[in-house]
Amino acid sequence: MGWTAIDVSLCKLIMLLLALICIQCIHSNPIKVSTEVTSKTLIQMPNIQVDKPDSYKCMAVPVTDLEFSNVVGFRIDVIKEVIHHLSVAFCEDYKTHQTLWDCKSNHGNICSGRSIASGGWDGYSKGHNDTMFPEDIGIHLGKDFKMNYVIIEAHFKQAVPDPGALKGNPANVTLFMTKKSQKYSYQKVILYSSGYIPAFSEDFKAEVSYKWESVPVYVYEYFVHTHNYGQLVEGYIVKNNTKILITMENPKERSHDTVHIEGEPIEIRPGDILAVRCSYRNIAPNKVLFGTGGADEMCNLILTFKYDAKEIDSFPEAIKVSTNAQDKVWCSGDGHDQGGVLCGLQQEADSKTSPENINRLIM
Ligand SMILES: *[C@@H]1O[C@H](CO)[C@@H](O)[C@H](O)[C@H]1NC(C)=O
Ligand SMILES: *[C@@H]1O[C@H](CO)[C@@H](O)[C@H](O)[C@H]1NC(C)=O
Ligand SMILES: *[C@@H]1O[C@H](CO)[C@@H](O)[C@H](O)[C@H]1NC(C)=O
Repeated sequence: MGWTAIDVSLCKLIMLLLALICIQCIHSNPIKVSTEVTSKTLIQMPNIQVDKPDSYKCMAVPVTDLEFSNVVGFRIDVIKEVIHHLSVAFCEDYKTHQTLWDCKSNHGNICSGRSIASGGWDGYSKGHNDTMFPEDIGIHLGKDFKMNYVIIEAHFKQAVPDPGALKGNPANVTLFMTKKSQKYSYQKVILYSSGYIPAFSEDFKAEVSYKWESVPVYVYEYFVHTHNYGQLVEGYIVKNNTKILITMENPKERSHDTVHIEGEPIEIRPGDILAVRCSYRNIAPNKVLFGTGGADEMCNLILTFKYDAKEIDSFPEAIKVSTNAQDKVWCSGDGHDQGGVLCGLQQEADSKTSPENINRLIM
């Protein structure tokens, strides 16, 4: 097998000196780069033959014996001409137990046991910078933390009949590692819709809401996504009967970019409600199903949060919340103590949001 995981330890003294010299530039950098990063682990996807366009290849690398075991960021390099999308996940275990395999049939659902999907690279997104987690966040790898593998999933848009003809291997993932235990761990909550958008709909709304019942966490980043029928996505957190707007945007504007929340992360406490609503226009005579296919629609709000690393057992995997788009949950009044705020929002929106107003709100 051609893959390798190489530990590259850099001289700590040099890092310390650099850290001292660089305190100023680190402070002025909007992304806080931890000065404790002292190691990089490079994982290379080997030159493999890919028979068909639109293929998914997965690769698993054991990470139980790394000297530096806290991931604090990563970098992804791909050959853009062949790879369309690549994602990185950390897992306790995975189903196939192969090193390199075709994973089209179960892509996005590879891990078993504890898992964290940390993000990836997307040909549609604008920023391809290194991803550094905020200063105090780490993903602890190793047996004690039930994180035994890094899984890389590459979506090849092109077939690669002759891997030798490529200018190198198709993808590299570099993990930035530290030895220092970080105060917070990392996880996501994913809100999405099922059901369908009816035919002849000028303005159909899919709503999802979720009452938080776990330990407090801090949201610092979000991602929204729809396909072509999406006109507007609104994301809120409701606390103490007060709504906090996370985002209100035209999903086409930046539908493949994760957005860092300005200022302090937003705390979510037990009893708070997470909510998303997507508005669609489908004037065609056919209904459109929600799903992951290219012809399907999506209503997605993904929040990345940090939480006390001592509470590691609270979030063994991402929280996934799905609501049928035919259910108008924002006004259902069933069990969501604070649903009234969202329902009020509904009436506000019904009376006010003409397309012109939407544009004004987004600007
Ligand atoms: C991955 O890293 C190797 C070794 O540094 C390099 O030769 C190769 O070009 C890299 N591949 C990509 C896609 O950047
Ligand atoms: C990378 O990050 C820097 C600083 O945050 C930003 O100015 C630059 O536009 C980013 N580059 C890309 C390609 O997004
Ligand atoms: C929310 O309400 C509770 C109980 O009424 C109160 O203790 C808390 O301070 C309030 N929080 C905020 C952020 O207003």
